[in-house]
Amino acid sequence: MKPHTEPPVVGGGAPLMVALPKGRLAEQTLELFAAAGLPLPGSDNGRKLILESAAGTLRYIMAKPSDVPTFVEYGAADLGICGLDTLRESRRQVYEPLLLPFGYCRLSLAAPADRPENPLRYESQPRVATKYPNLTADFFRSRGVNAEIITLHGSVELGPLVGLAHLIVDLVETGSTLQANGLVETRKIMDIQAVLIANRAAYHLKRESVEQVINRLQAQLKQLENPSRKVYDRNC
Ligand code: PRP
Repeated sequence: MKPHTEPPVVGGGAPLMVALPKGRLAEQTLELFAAAGLPLPGSDNGRKLILESAAGTLRYIMAKPSDVPTFVEYGAADLGICGLDTLRESRRQVYEPLLLPFGYCRLSLAAPADRPENPLRYESQPRVATKYPNLTADFFRSRGVNAEIITLHGSVELGPLVGLAHLIVDLVETGSTLQANGLVETRKIMDIQAVLIANRAAYHLKRESVEQVINRLQAQLKQLENPSRKVYDRNC
């Protein structure tokens, strides 16, 4: 593992702010940052929401995953990590400099296994439960189907089980949640993985620091693709 050298601070000494999604993606992000030799947040008792690296050049905001694009679009964070699902649903305007090799899953339409499978265009006003109302509306609109979208914030698979919805649109990773609840995936809407996002202004105004983070991550990703290749550490 490379030493954690802190990138130089630009912009009048302001640290780079990085919005991390609390939970699964944060763990994988920090593993990648560590392997790339980027400064990590100091440890705390798990309640602090802003954590600084040892030399104070990176500051991590511990955000609810769905809020990461908001922090980044408004410039409260210069960089952020989130899933493509969260980013596309949020419709936030940010740069997407790097796809990250984790958080793989797909956004899919699913139905009760015993429901006769109709071509979508024959669905008459299906009720669809989802955590992704914008993406779901886009999907049905683009197919000319007038769907009623019911927004839930979790356990979306409950929708058809309790008669709230006919169909669901949700993330599928292993498929075991669908299977355990008598549902089947009927159409994939989009592939999902984690992505590094950047505030548009910060990308230019803090270019040196932002580029260093991106370059180090890119070098580490190349190393993962081809472990025999020696990474050229610019130590910039
Ligand atoms: C996600 C998703 C599905 C499940 C899919 O839920 O919304 O429910 O994981 O994973 P699988 O295909 O491997 O079973 P999450 O665990 O985030 O909880 P939530 O439903 O309460 O949002």
